[in-house]
Amino acid sequence: MTSSSPDVNVLLVDDLQENLVALEALIRQPGRRIFTARAGEQALSLMLEHPFALAILDVQMPSMSGFELAELMRGTERTRSIPIVFVSAGGRELNYAFRGYEAGAVDFLYKPLDPHAVRSKVNVFVDLFRQRQELQEAKAQLQRAVSMRDDFMSMIAHELRNPLNSVYLQAQLRRRMLAAPRPPDTQTMQSMVERDERQIRSMVRLLDDMLDVTRARTGKLAIVPAPYDLAASTTAVVDAIQEQARTSGVTLTLAAPPKLPMVGDEFRIEQVITNLLTNALRYGQRKPVAVTVGVRESESEAFVSVRDQGMGIQPEDQERIFEQFERTEGSAQIAGLGLGLYIARQIAQAHHGRLEVRSAPGDGAEFILSLPLPAPDAPT
Ligand SMILES: Nc1ncnc2c1ncn2[C@@H]1O[C@H](COP(=O)(O)OP(=O)(O)OP(=O)(O)O)[C@@H](O)[C@H]1O
Ligand SMILES: [Mg+2]
Repeated sequence: MTSSSPDVNVLLVDDLQENLVALEALIRQPGRRIFTARAGEQALSLMLEHPFALAILDVQMPSMSGFELAELMRGTERTRSIPIVFVSAGGRELNYAFRGYEAGAVDFLYKPLDPHAVRSKVNVFVDLFRQRQELQEAKAQLQRAVSMRDDFMSMIAHELRNPLNSVYLQAQLRRRMLAAPRPPDTQTMQSMVERDERQIRSMVRLLDDMLDVTRARTGKLAIVPAPYDLAASTTAVVDAIQEQARTSGVTLTLAAPPKLPMVGDEFRIEQVITNLLTNALRYGQRKPVAVTVGVRESESEAFVSVRDQGMGIQPEDQERIFEQFERTEGSAQIAGLGLGLYIARQIAQAHHGRLEVRSAPGDGAEFILSLPLPAPDAPT
């Protein structure tokens, strides 16, 4: 954590250039940025611009003494909590020392400066500053995690509530039908059961997605690699969703080679393609959707492309949508949690592949899954 943290700033204020040079030489270190000022006004403006771990103030300066500067610092929110070390000529300035204490001074160094004392004091304050920063960062991270979990729970509750409610209403309806003098006919029953199944499947899918997100986050998204045929898998997924496309009036086409042997987790790869197809139907504004399976020999890659002609995605959204819960403004009316692409990309990466998008707003979107071809001597 510390190695990647930015430089810590230290401010030296002294009216004499040679004192500044000497002090700076004493405390200069990698990871530290030393600022110097020859007068109180200049010091204050630096303090308003940069965060400081420590200010070392010469007590005796012509236009504004170190103590006066300290009093001004205590008066302003941004500079109030900067620790101060006064450099004084010792005994001769005892009454000053008292005033310094009142102004909130934290420590003193006496002239002539003892290099060891200077270095260790500065080290203490710099370490304190670093620790405080790390604590604040950890706290902010925790707060983000907690609020994300809260958002997550309320979204899940919201998303489950509607289908659950509808299944419950359906059950009540059945009860009333069964109590009626004439029982419902088989066909009515059949379509009711089918609707129940759809609702229940969508709830199960939602819960599965949540589990996958948790697995991906903890690095436990299980990939069970085995030989499979990517052309056949894609065909199966397209066939399975064809019915849904037809009922919503979408032309769904597939171009694939007769065979495309790969090694990977077929179930997971089908999950990726299903997610992309579901999105194309959801956000594709009922325009045609084209699926292409092929090989890029030069890259030694296979690819599956899902192209729609719908609303498209703004350039600034094109990376964001692969993160958890991230959705675009244009899709706010359409149900969805914003998990599908996150999971899909995690699966692609677990296969050492990629999931990318190409899109121009208003001109549809193309999502491309690229997967490394198996080594030629791999079992098929
Ligand atoms: N083909 C597409 N065309 C336009 N926007 C898209 C397309 N696919 C995804 N998006 C945008 O990216 C967002 C994230 O997609 P993602 O699949 O991760 O979540 P979702 O579809 O909203 O919900 P779910 O978790 O059910 O998949 C979508 O909400 C939508 O805004
Ligand atoms: Mg989706």
